[in-house]
Amino acid sequence: MAAENPDVMQIMELLLTAEIFNQSPSLTENDLPPSILAHYLDFDLQGVERPIVVTSQDVKKIYGIDNAPDLLRLLPFIHVEDSGSRIGLLDFDLAAGWFGGRDTLPAMQRNPVLAHYYQKFDPNVSYIEARVANKPVRRETEGAEAKIEDLWEEGGDVQDLLKLVTIKTPEGGRDRLADLVLTEDQREEIAKAGKALEYREYLRHIGLYEIGKILFVGPPGTGKTTTARALSQWFGLPFIEVKLSMIISHYLGETSKNIDRVFVLAKKLSPCILFIDEFDFVAKTRTSDDHGAIKRAVNTLLKAVDDISLVEDGVLLIAATNYPQLLDYAAWRRFDKVMSFTLPDLVMRRKILGKILQKVHADIDLDELARLTEGSTGSDLRLVIREAVLNALLEDRKQISREDILRALDEFNRRNTDYRQNTNS
Ligand SMILES: Nc1ncnc2c1ncn2[C@@H]1O[C@H](COP(=O)(O)OP(=O)(O)OP(=O)(O)O)[C@@H](O)[C@H]1O
Ligand SMILES: [Mg+2]
Repeated sequence: MAAENPDVMQIMELLLTAEIFNQSPSLTENDLPPSILAHYLDFDLQGVERPIVVTSQDVKKIYGIDNAPDLLRLLPFIHVEDSGSRIGLLDFDLAAGWFGGRDTLPAMQRNPVLAHYYQKFDPNVSYIEARVANKPVRRETEGAEAKIEDLWEEGGDVQDLLKLVTIKTPEGGRDRLADLVLTEDQREEIAKAGKALEYREYLRHIGLYEIGKILFVGPPGTGKTTTARALSQWFGLPFIEVKLSMIISHYLGETSKNIDRVFVLAKKLSPCILFIDEFDFVAKTRTSDDHGAIKRAVNTLLKAVDDISLVEDGVLLIAATNYPQLLDYAAWRRFDKVMSFTLPDLVMRRKILGKILQKVHADIDLDELARLTEGSTGSDLRLVIREAVLNALLEDRKQISREDILRALDEFNRRNTDYRQNTNS
């Protein structure tokens, strides 16, 4: 058997996987290997769009190989489009035969799409077994439920702690990334976190540990909490949510212990997401001349954040704050990523409105409404639409008129102004 350039073999695996997937309606996104799935998964569709098209840019993004057309030039069954950079198979049977004749059994055994095709020819390949071996990053839900059940069986300490944190299975929450409008940067950070999860072993191997602690920063109502929760479903990881004010203020003497317990819990549930909301609470207590116990607690927290690692412990840590300016360097430097949540611009507002109104019969031009809501957050937009829906329901209408919405917007703006005046005085 010929030894081939591993890059060529990876590209060939991708091309064949795409082609077989496109031709076989019975195969689903869950049959795709994680790296291919992560690349082609559509945030909005919550699925993979058929047909899967492969370009040199795709190859670069998935495998970091940037000279695909050159590498493939000598293979007679490959076609590279001159205009674009689309890469296709001229002759599937020839390509499949070529690939099958090389040292590719391991690929067939772990890639269900390939297995689906090659099991017809090779008794060592089984689609069902490949499905079991193929663990996409998301949908890794089975173990999680059992682990959470086990927690409830445990004794006093854990029971007390469970009152202070919220734990959800990946399917347990109702927040979905598909309902959120995210910026390109945010999507990219999410994709990177997904890769880090997927390639934990590799990252450990090369000694890259400073990964997997993300700070969400932005004004109230811009989607920080919702995004964190939605990531649980997206990555198929259980979710532990902690509000710092809860564990710090309620049990002053116990605070340091609670913090340690939360992190121990996260390691027990690993792989999981640990979400620490209201992280600025750290800052508030640091600057004020508070009780020594709080200072100790803050130091415990910062040390715990230091000690936990995605690569080693399988815990993706997300913290959120409205007040980044309150955080001092000691807190900042513990995060390897800062994801900004900003007020949505016109285009984003238009998209958010589209999502909110998806199932609502509303007679309004979304472009107009987007223009009228400058300065509003996603949360504001939801509130306005909710009021409009309720106003219409008062008259037993499920059809929302332009007037309903404009009136709700007006009320919302008035209330907002009142609020600002009251809080400024
Ligand atoms: N970009 C967005 N796209 C779609 N919906 C959004 C967006 N931003 C906010 N929302 C909606 O607004 C509501 C409030 O968002 P969320 O609670 O996540 O904000 P937050 O940033 O955590 O706010 P806070 O800082 O007050 O905790 C949610 O229902 C969310 O779906
Ligand atoms: Mg929040």
